[in-house]
Amino acid sequence: MKYSTKTGSLTAATHCLVCGLKAAVKAAKELGAGALFDTAVQDFENKAGANLAVRLPGASRVKRILVAGGADGEVGPAEFRKIARSTARDLAGLAAAGVRNAVWALVPVRVKNRDPYWRAFTGTHEMSLALYRFEEHKSEAGRARLGRVRVHADARTRASVARAVNEGQALQQGLELSRNLGNQPPNVCDPNYLLKEARKFGRAANVSVSALDERRMTELGMGAFMAVTTGSARPGRMIIVNYRGGGAKEPPIALIGKGITFDTGGISLKTPKAMIEMKFDMCGAASVLGATRAAIEAELPLNVVTILAAAENMPNGNATRPGDIVKTHSGKTVEILNTDAEGRLVLCDALSYAGRYKPKTVIDVATLTGACITALGHHASAVYANDDALAEALVSAGEWTGDRAWRMPLWPEYQSALDSRFADMANVGGSGGGSIVAACFLSRFAENYSWAHLDVAGSAFGGGSKSGATGRPVALLFKYLLDAAA
Ligand code: BES
Ligand code: MN
Ligand code: ZN
Repeated sequence: MKYSTKTGSLTAATHCLVCGLKAAVKAAKELGAGALFDTAVQDFENKAGANLAVRLPGASRVKRILVAGGADGEVGPAEFRKIARSTARDLAGLAAAGVRNAVWALVPVRVKNRDPYWRAFTGTHEMSLALYRFEEHKSEAGRARLGRVRVHADARTRASVARAVNEGQALQQGLELSRNLGNQPPNVCDPNYLLKEARKFGRAANVSVSALDERRMTELGMGAFMAVTTGSARPGRMIIVNYRGGGAKEPPIALIGKGITFDTGGISLKTPKAMIEMKFDMCGAASVLGATRAAIEAELPLNVVTILAAAENMPNGNATRPGDIVKTHSGKTVEILNTDAEGRLVLCDALSYAGRYKPKTVIDVATLTGACITALGHHASAVYANDDALAEALVSAGEWTGDRAWRMPLWPEYQSALDSRFADMANVGGSGGGSIVAACFLSRFAENYSWAHLDVAGSAFGGGSKSGATGRPVALLFKYLLDAAA
């Protein structure tokens, strides 16, 4: 999908004009289709989420008007998002009727506490989400799709709309990458595949891509990471994308992603039902890579180091046993009581390794615990942080983008769940607060910098084969980076 900004007449040639009812009535009149249009909208219920596509006479340069319900008065941000989302879905459906391009004219809708920049950004964001398809493995040729949307602006909003469109385009590319990686089956998307995809970033002049292989990780004493990957025939990789868009001396923001390309649970084997969605266990890695792509596309003046902890969690004769004790890159020892708590094991070594970049901030993203879904369901990602300002920044970036997150406690009282009789700590706690205890485990390896952890087990994907990877929290992260760059 290509986005651009359009000023001037609202009735310029297009397959579909998307606007509120008042603007639509005016446009139809201008196009000489006033009477037809008035009849068509007679029973139209002008409320958010209820839209109406009206076909104009064949000769009209505007082929259709998609009337966005609820777009005439003032609305709240959530209602505007609903309007943007429902019109985006309708546009996606209209592709079957030959709609290849559109003019999106909802920037003028008044939204409480939100400016034209947000409205345009939100419009492109919702269209990127609604128009996404993953059909690489379908035999039938892909269905026709909308290819280009021009976001309409007037002289007053032109500059901010252009900026939003540019950033919305960057976000679209990040979301698409993230969702494609998430949706790829685990026989395709293994650690090496992630490395191959990351290497594509190295084409840009200010980006370098490297990887630690298993030999190097063993040398570095990454016993926790190695304990996870050892049971798999597919070698694990620590993948590092270094984007230098900022000043030479400016400390980077580090983004770390859990990249378990398939999580069987290992020797602590999952049930078939619990395993079925575990190709999505690399969605944390996919999201930080997606956010990085968006940052590079938007040429943000920032330094970002992105680390993907990529491995497959499999049971075989070399696999880690419950009871094994390993030494982490930090020097701390871990008693692995449950090999299914593998995300924290690959992440703890990545967190320690990130320290060498002297980051000002480290954010890790992981589909870490089923308990996170129990706590928050699928609407919010969980945020944990050792820094209130960072937590606040992430929550508000989530609110702004509709990619919402909710802060959870990291109180010291939860730490004792990880006590081990034989090692410095166990990799699992007792009962209760599973998402919190997992975050506590990570916090022990994130000591020397400002750090946040996002548990996205409930938000990164939905309903197995039905909806697939959502691309969350790419938008949240991208907005965080946009704010950090400002
Ligand atoms: N990848 C899973 C968590 C998960 C479960 C993500 C469902 C998305 C949907 C993780 O590696 C895991 O297995 N966690 C265990 C931890 C437990 C052993 C302490 C869990 O949640 O059951
Ligand atoms: Mn697991
Ligand atoms: Zn996992």
